[in-house]
Amino acid sequence: MAKITYVEHSGKEHVVEVAAGLTVMEGARDNGIPGIEANCGGACACSTCHVYVAPEWVEKLPKKDAMEEDMLDFAWNPDPVRSRLTCQIKVTPALDVLRVQMPDEARVQLLLEDYGFFAQDVDGFCRLLDGLVALRGKDTVVHWQTLARAGAWADVFRAMMTDHYDPLYNRSMDRHYAGYAQARPVLLPDGGPTALAATASAMLAMAG
Ligand code: FES
Repeated sequence: MAKITYVEHSGKEHVVEVAAGLTVMEGARDNGIPGIEANCGGACACSTCHVYVAPEWVEKLPKKDAMEEDMLDFAWNPDPVRSRLTCQIKVTPALDVLRVQMPDEARVQLLLEDYGFFAQDVDGFCRLLDGLVALRGKDTVVHWQTLARAGAWADVFRAMMTDHYDPLYNRSMDRHYAGYAQARPVLLPDGGPTALAATASAMLAMAG
C-alpha cells in the first residue's frame, strides 16, 4: 500500500491508501476522487488523467516514456517537468498491441458526450485551439473555430478527430509499437458499456 495525496483544483486534499500494482489514476478512480477523468481507462490515449506532480516527487517517479510524452501534448497546459499522466505511473509490461475501433460517428457521439461542455465557453475553446496553429496551420484552426462559433460541435469534433487527433495518435502508435499497423482490429458497434463489456469478454475468452 502507498499513501497518496490528491489535491483538487480548489486545493482540497484527499489522502488515500492505494494498493501496489494499481496506477495512480486507478487509485483516484477507486476512491471517487474528482478531477482525474481518465476517459480512455488508462490506455494512454486521452490525457484526461493529467496532473502536476509535486516538485520533490518529480525525480522519484519512473521516467516518462515516449508515448506518455506524446500524449501530454494533448493535456491542458502541460508543464515540461511536472506534468504526468497518472495512468502511466506504475510498472506495466506491455505484452501486446491491440487496436480497438468503432465507427467514426459513434466516436463523434462519445466526444460530444465527454467534451460537450466546451459549448459553454466557446471563446475559451477557441483560445485553446489557437495553441494548435503551429501544428496544424492557421487556416485549419480558423476552420475549426468557425465551426465552433456556429455551434456545429459534431463537425468540430469530426474534423479534429480526422485532421489532428488520429494522425498524432497513429504516428505515436506506429513509433512505439512496431506491429501496430498489422494489429487485428476489434470492431465495436459503439462506445457504450454493453459493447465494451462484450468485447472485453470475447477477448478474455480468446486469451484463454
Ligand atoms: S487515462 Fe487516458 S491517458 Fe491516462
